[in-house]
Amino acid sequence: MINNQIIHGFSKLSEEEKRNFIAALCKETSLAGERFERFLMEDEAERSQFLDLSENTISSFHTPYGIAPNVMVDGKVYHVPMAIEESSVVAAASHSARFWAGCGGFRVTGVSTIKLGHVYFTWLGDPEYIWERWHLLKLFLLERLKKLTSNMVRRGGGILSLELLDAAVTADNLFKLELKVETINSMGANFINTCLEDMAEALDLFFAVDNDPEGKKCQVAMAILSNYTPQCTVTVEASCTIDHFRSIAERLPVEVFAEKMLLAYRIAGNDPSRAVTHNKGIMNGVDAVLMATGNDYRAAEAAAHAFAARDGQYRALSWSTMEGDELTIGLTIPLAVGTVGGITNLHPLARLSLEVLGNPTAKELMGIVASVGLASNFAAIRSLITTGIQKGHMRLHLSNILNMLNVDGVMRDEAELWFANRKVSFNAVKHFLHERTV
Ligand code: MEV
Repeated sequence: MINNQIIHGFSKLSEEEKRNFIAALCKETSLAGERFERFLMEDEAERSQFLDLSENTISSFHTPYGIAPNVMVDGKVYHVPMAIEESSVVAAASHSARFWAGCGGFRVTGVSTIKLGHVYFTWLGDPEYIWERWHLLKLFLLERLKKLTSNMVRRGGGILSLELLDAAVTADNLFKLELKVETINSMGANFINTCLEDMAEALDLFFAVDNDPEGKKCQVAMAILSNYTPQCTVTVEASCTIDHFRSIAERLPVEVFAEKMLLAYRIAGNDPSRAVTHNKGIMNGVDAVLMATGNDYRAAEAAAHAFAARDGQYRALSWSTMEGDELTIGLTIPLAVGTVGGITNLHPLARLSLEVLGNPTAKELMGIVASVGLASNFAAIRSLITTGIQKGHMRLHLSNILNMLNVDGVMRDEAELWFANRKVSFNAVKHFLHERTV
């Protein structure tokens, strides 16, 4: 039942009161309440730790947690956890990872880890003045930051540079401070934002003392990290001679398969309407590993798509080339990930995922995530240039329907045989079962 009333103080209700209130919006109130509750962990400590990750929590939303085994990256084999609800993605990534492992696996051929943050401010005084004072201001800001950065410096990271940039193209009198940071194994969002907010406060202080007796020549607009991370990217590649394609080319001659593969990558490299879908296929793998390891997939999505449009046109993030009879696929993607701190430590399954991966460094995790992204991408292209994607989807779709209808044993085998070359739909499966049982 839709309730059009504004509710005041929802956040002040207890967890149970919130659940009851929301369950009452559902047709079968008590069933809904039970279900919301059942999807929570039984262990009290785990449950409250989990519920405390967010606000107004009344349940938890489950996502299948699967494994793509045999992802070989720089000679190491990983069995990679993936959290994703879309059928076929894990199966496709696994199949493709296994194929590339047989050809030597994925190689990380480039990795950079510089992150950026900005303080935007307007300066209403003489613009010359701010450039004259920049040297002193920079020293003042960096000196203050030392108290915040000492731990990060001890771990090998910290501030890499601080620049003053004119941002008048956006608005008159606008400037920005650009901070470049190395955050080692943490994603570093809190660290960067804390540094930036400290700089924003320091700007006010500096000018109040320095040159702003009547106040407010300097007005801070905002201080925030940038999720656009073109200097925090990873490149992975994989190569094989085309005769390897014999096992996966369906009925195509390997030369034709390779040509179609190259063309598919070229189309995605030039045509934005294909590039978006192509990149979605990459992000299927990327996001699933980021989810499973407690990393921020929204940040990765935002960065990836901005990066894909960095020359002014949206393009594929991955590519394919051929030299002689060796075909190479590659992917460069911005990825700001962490393997310590934040959700990676707080979410019990994220912690386990990292353990399954051998507690990688952030750089290693970037290589693993990108490899799964490229594996997913290759699997999608392989299907598109051979059988089409519906065949694989339909097999899993059938399996989901049979599960929903509690069909197993001989009947399940018969259904799988019957639908091997037929169109799968819920009604078609129900009709088939009905025919067999009457
Ligand atoms: C579906 O989730 C992803 C694909 O559409 C990707 C692609 O077209 O490359 C299969």
